[in-house]
Amino acid sequence: MSSLLTSVLVLLLVILEGLKTTGASCDCSALTCRCEGLSLTSIPQNLPTSITSLHVEYNNLTSLHMQDFLRYRNLSSLFLPDNRLFTIGSRAFYHLTNLTSIDLRWNKLTCLQTDTFVGLGSLRALNIDYNDIKSIEEGTFRECPRLVHLLLGSNRLASISPGSFTGLNQLELLDLFSNQITYIQPDTFSNLPQLKHLYLYQNGITHIHPDTFSHVSQLQLLSLFSNKIAEIQSGTFTDLPKLEELDLDFNHITNIQAGAFSNLPRLEYLGLGHNQMEILPLTICHELSSVPTLILNNNPWQCDCRIVSLNLHTQICGSCSPEIVNQITCTNPGGFQGQKLRDINVTVLNCTELGRPNSATGQQGHCPYSYVFNLLLSVILMET
Ligand SMILES: *[C@@H]1O[C@H](CO)[C@@H](O)[C@H](O)[C@H]1NC(C)=O
Ligand SMILES: *[C@@H]1O[C@H](CO)[C@@H](O)[C@H](O)[C@H]1NC(C)=O
Ligand SMILES: *[C@@H]1O[C@H](CO)[C@@H](O)[C@H](O)[C@H]1NC(C)=O
Ligand SMILES: *[C@@H]1O[C@H](CO)[C@@H](O)[C@H](O)[C@H]1NC(C)=O
Ligand SMILES: *[C@@H]1O[C@H](CO)[C@@H](O)[C@H](O)[C@H]1NC(C)=O
Repeated sequence: MSSLLTSVLVLLLVILEGLKTTGASCDCSALTCRCEGLSLTSIPQNLPTSITSLHVEYNNLTSLHMQDFLRYRNLSSLFLPDNRLFTIGSRAFYHLTNLTSIDLRWNKLTCLQTDTFVGLGSLRALNIDYNDIKSIEEGTFRECPRLVHLLLGSNRLASISPGSFTGLNQLELLDLFSNQITYIQPDTFSNLPQLKHLYLYQNGITHIHPDTFSHVSQLQLLSLFSNKIAEIQSGTFTDLPKLEELDLDFNHITNIQAGAFSNLPRLEYLGLGHNQMEILPLTICHELSSVPTLILNNNPWQCDCRIVSLNLHTQICGSCSPEIVNQITCTNPGGFQGQKLRDINVTVLNCTELGRPNSATGQQGHCPYSYVFNLLLSVILMET
């Protein structure tokens, strides 16, 4: 009796498993099918053709092909995260002309080809975060002119060719965080006229060419933290009339050239913390004194007279706002470690090198000794 019951149950289980893999156990309404976690190896072909939303998360899909979606032409959202997709066949989504979003996170895709996304004329959001993409062929997104959000974070991109984002005239968000990008070619973003949010954090960028962001006039947020940028050249972040947030924390910045941050009228936040600045670039005082939030913490500030660089032309010498000076916590010389610059009596700062050109940057010094001394003094007096 009980062994018969067991056999029946086992048989039932086997049948249920069989139904699952054919997709019969997807949970469907007229407009939505949910097929999560069913060990599916292909897109079920027995679902209502009227569906506009299809969830196939947590399955065993390894590839996608055009015939998988022939029956589901009304789809507007397609969810495919957490499968094992390593390839998407040529024109796989060709018939999904009404598709507006595809979620492909946590798969194993290694490359995107020029015909992968052909036909997706309505697509607005494409999320390919957490894959293994190493390269994007030029023109890959050309057939997706309505794309607004493109997410390619946590992949293996080492470089991006300038043609990668051609045709994305409506793109507003581009996410490239946690890739292996070391260098960005100057024209890479210049054909993205609507770009507002650009995420490039956690890459290996060492150098930014001054023209890289010069045509991205709608940019509001630029995130570059955790890269390896050593110097900000003149003109790198200039004429960005809408830029509100610029994050350069956790880089290797030692120097910022004059003119690096000019004409940023809306800038509200600039992060320069956790960098390698020893000497306060006066550019910070001149170009950024009106930025409401300017972060300068955790730089190895050298608290002697060189903290205010001597190597700038007379016409741009001027005092730094107390808000900026207040953030300078000394690292060297050892005796001042951990002290705020504003708390140190200027008479004890080591000024033996004053008056000499600063050989570190190779420029001639024009700010006279007394000027710098008075500057420091005025800052300290302002505070006391
Ligand atoms: C799906 O993947 C799981 C996890 O790796 C595995 O145990 C299972 O056998 C796979 N199922 C099929 C039908 O391939
Ligand atoms: C697809 O959507 C259109 C417009 O809503 C509708 O007329 C048509 O019947 C739908 N197709 C199917 C197969 O349900
Ligand atoms: C696609 O969308 C358009 C307009 O949004 C609609 O008229 C059409 O019926 C849709 N087609 C399908 C196949 O759903
Ligand atoms: C700074 O040091 C000088 C010389 O030791 C001293 O005369 C002066 O009072 C000090 N100033 C302050 C604000 O402590
Ligand atoms: C002052 O700075 C000079 C040049 O950096 C250095 O050679 C000298 O030892 C310093 N003096 C003190 C007392 O720290």
